[in-house]
Amino acid sequence: MLYDLLIIGGGPAGYVGAERAAHAGLNTLLIEKRKLGGVCLNEGCIPTKALLYSAKLCDNAKNGAKYGVAAENVKLDHAAAMKRKDKVVRTLVAGVQAGVKASGAAVVAGEAQILGRGDSGYRVRANEEVFEAKRLLICSGSEAAMPPIDGLADSFAAGFAMTNREILAMNGIPERLAVIGGGVIGLEMASYCASAGSKVAVVEMLEQVGGPIDTEISALLRKSLEKKGIAFVLGARVTAVRQGEIVYALGGKEETLKADKALVSIGRRPSTTGLGLEAIGVMLERGAVVTDETMRTNVPGVYAAGDVNGKSMLAHTASREAEVAVNHMLGLKDKMSYAAIPGVIYTNPEVGTVGETLEGAKAKGINAKEVKLTMKYSGRYVAENEGGDGICKLVFDRAHDTIIGAHIISNYASEFIVSAGMMIEKGMRVEDIKRFVFPHPTVCEIIREGVFQY
Ligand code: NAI
Repeated sequence: MLYDLLIIGGGPAGYVGAERAAHAGLNTLLIEKRKLGGVCLNEGCIPTKALLYSAKLCDNAKNGAKYGVAAENVKLDHAAAMKRKDKVVRTLVAGVQAGVKASGAAVVAGEAQILGRGDSGYRVRANEEVFEAKRLLICSGSEAAMPPIDGLADSFAAGFAMTNREILAMNGIPERLAVIGGGVIGLEMASYCASAGSKVAVVEMLEQVGGPIDTEISALLRKSLEKKGIAFVLGARVTAVRQGEIVYALGGKEETLKADKALVSIGRRPSTTGLGLEAIGVMLERGAVVTDETMRTNVPGVYAAGDVNGKSMLAHTASREAEVAVNHMLGLKDKMSYAAIPGVIYTNPEVGTVGETLEGAKAKGINAKEVKLTMKYSGRYVAENEGGDGICKLVFDRAHDTIIGAHIISNYASEFIVSAGMMIEKGMRVEDIKRFVFPHPTVCEIIREGVFQY
């Protein structure tokens, strides 16, 4: 049989692409070598959020006295939190399986390899069977980056070093955890392990944590994590990992940090090896599949969505990219926009960020203005955050009176950052935003307040 579309990889790009394509009437086959849901559902976004919720409950209970709630001997039961995390993952994977099945897309469990192009379509092998399809959508995702750090391979083999995969399957909580890389994975897992009782130290190469987020928000986030007992070494590059210790270079000197386990969270790289992309001449750049704004590769009928194209390694970007690809296949007018993709760090407090920072906008030559507010402008924030020091920064384009960026550190930031994203994506003018009615009291009202202070 000749499929209209064959999708390789069943993560947030692949399974959403399969559902949309099948719903629209394309005869679709999805091939996944592990589990549907991909890294996001099985060893990324979802399991970490389940664990971080346990951590938040524990931290809130410990700090309950400030709110008139007395609790004694509060502690996080890691085994119970993990069990619940597994249940959450199982529930959602089953949901994805049901969703894909209901859409009518066929699913094959196996590892796909592109063999080449036949007379009628692309030929892909999985489980000794060869499938043919008119179009391909590559959604093979990414894997943890493994730079040539001395001793890293041996440390993984010995079980001392872990990636997101191993730490999310960890039986106990290490007494001392060294986190290599203070990006999103590093901070979220550092936060969980600290709540669960680990002595955590994060070693980060840059002078700030959380990646390229607003500098002041990054500093507030670090301060809040330090209050939980997490130690940070900034401007330090890890050069070696040995059993029981990591070695880093700081100010021209070599330092060591003793630990019982080390989390390696220094970025991810697109997964392209073994797919057979070379058999049909798909172009790669720095290891990522090159795509245009409709997610087409250089090969006609071959598209790529999600981490594999390396553009914005986030689950929500992946799903949208897959939709754009499918829409293009269907002849619908659509294109991918990266200007307003929200980024979130699910620590407690959360960081939500979208669009330009003031520095970024200025570097692009935009006549930008920033409005910075303490979160105390929000009644609900004050009601729920005793002693909280959250802030919200909105960035505006003075030439067009539009909002072009929002950067927030606050509870619920993950839930309402999308409202700013929609305003940015639509290029909404300040005068129009002022007419929106926000529910009161909500933390989200901070955006309305900020717009009135422009
Ligand atoms: P990342 O790119 O966010 O952070 C890696 C950090 O490691 C950087 O700050 C970098 O400066 C540092 N680093 C690199 N080499 C180093 C060395 N030798 N010594 C010390 N520090 C070093 O990557 P991360 O945290 O591994 O996350 C991977 C991907 O997963 C990202 O693309 C992220 O977007 C995604 N993700 C998203 C989440 C979310 O949206 N909440 C949660 C977790 C992951």
